[in-house]
Amino acid sequence: MRIDIISVLPELMESPFKTSILKRAMDKGIAEVHFHQLRDFGLGKYRQIDDEPYGGGAGMVMMCEPLDNLISKLKSERNYDEIIYLTPDGETLNQKIANTLSIKDNLIFLCGHYKGIDQRIRELHITREISIGDYVLTGGELAACVLADSVIRLIPGVLNDEQSALTDSFQDDLLSPPIYTRPAEYKGLKVPEILLSGNFKKIEEWRSEQALKITQKKRPDLLH
Ligand code: ADE
Repeated sequence: MRIDIISVLPELMESPFKTSILKRAMDKGIAEVHFHQLRDFGLGKYRQIDDEPYGGGAGMVMMCEPLDNLISKLKSERNYDEIIYLTPDGETLNQKIANTLSIKDNLIFLCGHYKGIDQRIRELHITREISIGDYVLTGGELAACVLADSVIRLIPGVLNDEQSALTDSFQDDLLSPPIYTRPAEYKGLKVPEILLSGNFKKIEEWRSEQALKITQKKRPDLLH
Protein backbone atom coordinates (compact mmCIF):
# COMPACT_ATOMS: atom_id res chain seq x y z
CA MET A 1 0.00 0.00 0.00
CA ARG A 2 1.11 3.52 -0.78
CA ILE A 3 -0.22 6.50 1.19
CA ASP A 4 0.49 10.05 0.01
CA ILE A 5 -0.08 12.60 2.75
CA ILE A 6 -0.59 16.27 1.85
CA SER A 7 0.10 18.74 4.62
CA VAL A 8 1.64 22.09 5.57
CA LEU A 9 3.23 20.44 8.62
CA PRO A 10 4.58 17.06 7.47
CA GLU A 11 7.21 17.14 10.24
CA LEU A 12 4.37 16.63 12.74
CA MET A 13 3.85 13.14 11.31
CA GLU A 14 7.35 11.78 11.02
CA SER A 15 7.92 9.74 14.18
CA PRO A 16 4.85 7.44 14.08
CA PHE A 17 6.10 5.97 10.83
CA LYS A 18 9.67 5.60 12.08
CA THR A 19 8.76 3.60 15.17
CA SER A 20 7.66 0.09 16.11
CA ILE A 21 5.06 -1.73 14.00
CA LEU A 22 4.56 0.98 11.37
CA LYS A 23 8.32 1.19 10.88
CA ARG A 24 8.46 -2.57 10.39
CA ALA A 25 5.68 -2.34 7.79
CA MET A 26 7.74 0.29 5.94
CA ASP A 27 10.98 -1.69 6.24
CA LYS A 28 9.27 -4.82 4.90
CA GLY A 29 7.96 -2.81 1.95
CA ILE A 30 4.34 -3.62 2.87
CA ALA A 31 3.45 0.05 3.24
CA GLU A 32 5.04 3.25 2.02
CA VAL A 33 4.14 6.73 3.17
CA HIS A 34 5.11 9.83 1.18
CA PHE A 35 4.73 13.33 2.57
CA HIS A 36 3.99 16.29 0.29
CA GLN A 37 4.56 19.83 1.51
CA LEU A 38 1.64 21.88 0.20
CA ARG A 39 3.70 25.05 0.60
CA ASP A 40 5.87 23.85 -2.34
CA PHE A 41 2.78 24.43 -4.50
CA GLY A 42 1.97 27.81 -2.92
CA LEU A 43 1.41 30.87 -5.11
CA GLY A 44 3.83 33.73 -5.66
CA LYS A 45 6.88 34.87 -3.81
CA TYR A 46 5.36 34.05 -0.40
CA ARG A 47 4.12 30.62 -1.50
CA GLN A 48 0.59 31.54 -0.48
CA ILE A 49 -1.72 28.61 0.29
CA ASP A 50 -4.60 30.28 2.14
CA ASP A 51 -6.81 33.34 1.83
CA GLU A 52 -9.74 35.08 3.50
CA PRO A 53 -13.18 33.51 3.22
CA TYR A 54 -15.67 34.99 0.74
CA GLY A 55 -18.56 36.47 2.66
CA GLY A 56 -16.33 37.34 5.61
CA GLY A 57 -15.85 35.58 8.92
CA ALA A 58 -12.96 34.45 11.05
CA GLY A 59 -10.12 32.23 9.89
CA MET A 60 -8.43 31.52 6.60
CA VAL A 61 -9.39 29.05 3.88
CA MET A 62 -6.98 26.77 2.05
CA MET A 63 -7.02 27.92 -1.58
CA CYS A 64 -8.01 25.83 -4.60
CA GLU A 65 -4.99 26.25 -6.83
CA PRO A 66 -2.13 24.85 -4.72
CA LEU A 67 -4.26 21.88 -3.65
CA ASP A 68 -5.58 21.25 -7.15
CA ASN A 69 -2.08 21.41 -8.66
CA LEU A 70 -0.61 19.01 -6.11
CA ILE A 71 -3.49 16.51 -6.20
CA SER A 72 -3.64 16.62 -10.02
CA LYS A 73 0.10 15.94 -10.21
CA LEU A 74 -0.26 12.89 -7.93
CA LYS A 75 -3.28 11.65 -9.89
CA SER A 76 -1.30 11.89 -13.15
CA GLU A 77 1.29 9.53 -11.65
CA ARG A 78 -0.99 6.68 -10.51
CA ASN A 79 -4.58 5.71 -9.87
CA TYR A 80 -5.84 6.39 -6.38
CA ASP A 81 -8.51 4.22 -4.74
CA GLU A 82 -9.57 7.02 -2.41
CA ILE A 83 -8.66 10.66 -1.84
CA ILE A 84 -9.48 11.24 1.80
CA TYR A 85 -9.91 14.59 3.49
CA LEU A 86 -9.44 14.50 7.28
CA THR A 87 -12.08 16.79 8.71
CA PRO A 88 -14.26 16.94 11.83
CA ASP A 89 -17.38 16.95 9.63
CA GLY A 90 -16.49 13.64 7.91
CA GLU A 91 -17.85 10.17 8.73
CA THR A 92 -16.48 8.96 12.05
CA LEU A 93 -13.62 6.50 11.73
CA ASN A 94 -14.38 2.98 12.93
CA GLN A 95 -12.91 -0.51 12.52
CA LYS A 96 -15.09 -1.25 9.48
CA ILE A 97 -13.71 1.77 7.60
CA ALA A 98 -10.15 0.77 8.58
CA ASN A 99 -10.80 -2.77 7.31
CA THR A 100 -12.14 -1.46 4.00
CA LEU A 101 -9.17 0.85 3.45
CA SER A 102 -6.60 -1.79 4.43
CA ILE A 103 -7.12 -3.67 1.15
CA LYS A 104 -6.53 -0.60 -1.08
CA ASP A 105 -3.33 0.03 -3.02
CA ASN A 106 -3.08 3.82 -3.28
CA LEU A 107 -4.54 6.42 -0.93
CA ILE A 108 -4.18 10.17 -0.54
CA PHE A 109 -4.76 11.75 2.87
CA LEU A 110 -5.30 15.49 2.82
CA CYS A 111 -4.74 17.30 6.12
CA GLY A 112 -6.73 20.50 6.54
CA HIS A 113 -5.65 23.60 8.44
CA TYR A 114 -7.18 26.93 9.43
CA LYS A 115 -10.92 26.91 8.70
CA GLY A 116 -10.55 24.11 6.14
CA ILE A 117 -10.29 23.77 2.37
CA ASP A 118 -12.22 25.53 -0.41
CA GLN A 119 -15.43 23.58 -1.06
CA ARG A 120 -14.52 23.17 -4.75
CA ILE A 121 -11.55 20.93 -3.89
CA ARG A 122 -13.99 18.65 -2.08
CA GLU A 123 -16.14 18.55 -5.19
CA LEU A 124 -13.25 18.13 -7.64
CA HIS A 125 -11.05 15.60 -5.90
CA ILE A 126 -12.16 14.30 -2.51
CA THR A 127 -13.80 10.85 -2.59
CA ARG A 128 -14.18 10.34 1.16
CA GLU A 129 -14.18 12.55 4.27
CA ILE A 130 -13.16 11.06 7.60
CA SER A 131 -13.24 12.40 11.15
CA ILE A 132 -11.49 10.70 14.06
CA GLY A 133 -14.09 11.92 16.55
CA ASP A 134 -16.36 14.74 17.61
CA TYR A 135 -13.72 17.25 18.64
CA VAL A 136 -11.59 19.71 16.72
CA LEU A 137 -7.83 19.33 16.32
CA THR A 138 -5.50 22.12 15.23
CA GLY A 139 -5.06 20.37 11.90
CA GLY A 140 -5.61 17.06 10.14
CA GLU A 141 -2.08 15.72 10.73
CA LEU A 142 -2.70 13.81 13.95
CA ALA A 143 -5.94 12.48 12.48
CA ALA A 144 -4.00 11.30 9.38
CA CYS A 145 -1.56 9.44 11.67
CA VAL A 146 -4.45 7.79 13.53
CA LEU A 147 -6.10 6.75 10.28
CA ALA A 148 -2.82 5.46 8.79
CA ASP A 149 -2.03 3.46 11.94
CA SER A 150 -5.51 1.88 12.07
CA VAL A 151 -5.24 0.90 8.39
CA ILE A 152 -1.60 -0.19 8.04
CA ARG A 153 -1.69 -2.58 11.01
CA LEU A 154 -4.47 -4.53 9.23
CA ILE A 155 -2.50 -5.17 6.04
CA PRO A 156 -1.60 -8.87 5.91
CA GLY A 157 2.00 -9.42 7.04
CA VAL A 158 2.22 -6.34 9.25
CA LEU A 159 1.23 -7.96 12.54
CA ASN A 160 2.66 -11.29 13.62
CA ASP A 161 0.49 -14.06 15.12
CA GLU A 162 0.72 -12.83 18.69
CA GLN A 163 -0.39 -9.37 17.63
CA SER A 164 -3.19 -10.74 15.48
CA ALA A 165 -5.85 -8.20 14.60
CA LEU A 166 -8.53 -10.89 14.62
CA THR A 167 -9.06 -10.64 18.37
CA ASP A 168 -9.05 -6.82 18.51
CA SER A 169 -11.82 -4.92 20.22
CA PHE A 170 -14.41 -3.89 17.59
CA GLN A 171 -13.38 -6.58 15.11
CA ASP A 172 -16.75 -8.35 15.61
CA ASP A 173 -18.49 -5.30 17.00
CA LEU A 174 -17.47 -6.53 20.45
CA LEU A 175 -15.00 -5.17 22.97
CA SER A 176 -12.16 -7.43 24.12
CA PRO A 177 -12.48 -9.60 27.24
CA PRO A 178 -10.21 -8.92 30.25
CA ILE A 179 -6.65 -10.20 29.94
CA TYR A 180 -4.10 -11.22 32.57
CA THR A 181 -0.49 -12.30 32.82
CA ARG A 182 1.71 -13.56 35.67
CA PRO A 183 1.49 -13.54 38.67
CA ALA A 184 -1.73 -15.52 39.27
CA GLU A 185 -2.46 -13.34 42.30
CA TYR A 186 -1.48 -9.69 42.74
CA LYS A 187 -2.31 -7.53 45.76
CA GLY A 188 -5.06 -10.00 46.64
CA LEU A 189 -6.59 -9.91 43.15
CA LYS A 190 -6.78 -13.35 41.52
CA VAL A 191 -6.75 -14.28 37.85
CA PRO A 192 -10.09 -16.01 37.05
CA GLU A 193 -9.73 -19.74 37.73
CA ILE A 194 -10.90 -20.73 34.25
CA LEU A 195 -7.85 -19.10 32.61
CA LEU A 196 -5.54 -21.36 34.63
CA SER A 197 -7.55 -24.52 33.82
CA GLY A 198 -5.92 -25.41 30.50
CA ASN A 199 -9.41 -26.16 29.10
CA PHE A 200 -9.21 -24.10 25.92
CA LYS A 201 -12.77 -24.73 24.84
CA LYS A 202 -14.08 -23.46 28.18
CA ILE A 203 -11.63 -20.53 28.06
CA GLU A 204 -12.93 -19.48 24.65
CA GLU A 205 -16.53 -19.70 25.93
CA TRP A 206 -15.61 -17.58 28.95
CA ARG A 207 -13.90 -14.99 26.74
CA SER A 208 -16.93 -14.75 24.45
CA GLU A 209 -19.27 -14.33 27.44
CA GLN A 210 -17.03 -11.66 28.94
CA ALA A 211 -16.74 -9.82 25.62
CA LEU A 212 -20.52 -9.72 25.35
CA LYS A 213 -20.96 -8.64 28.99
CA ILE A 214 -18.38 -5.86 28.73
CA THR A 215 -19.84 -4.62 25.46
CA GLN A 216 -23.34 -4.59 26.98
CA LYS A 217 -22.04 -2.58 29.91
CA LYS A 218 -19.67 -0.13 28.21
CA ARG A 219 -20.87 0.17 24.62
CA PRO A 220 -24.42 -1.18 24.22
CA ASP A 221 -24.67 0.85 20.99
CA LEU A 222 -22.28 -1.64 19.32
CA LEU A 223 -24.82 -4.46 19.77
CA HIS A 224 -27.34 -2.67 17.52
N1 ADE B 1 -9.14 17.97 11.70
C1 ADE B 1 -9.46 18.69 12.79
N2 ADE B 1 -10.17 17.97 13.66
C2 ADE B 1 -10.32 16.73 13.11
C3 ADE B 1 -10.97 15.54 13.49
N3 ADE B 1 -11.64 15.44 14.64
N4 ADE B 1 -10.92 14.48 12.66
C4 ADE B 1 -10.28 14.56 11.49
N5 ADE B 1 -9.64 15.66 11.06
C5 ADE B 1 -9.66 16.74 11.85
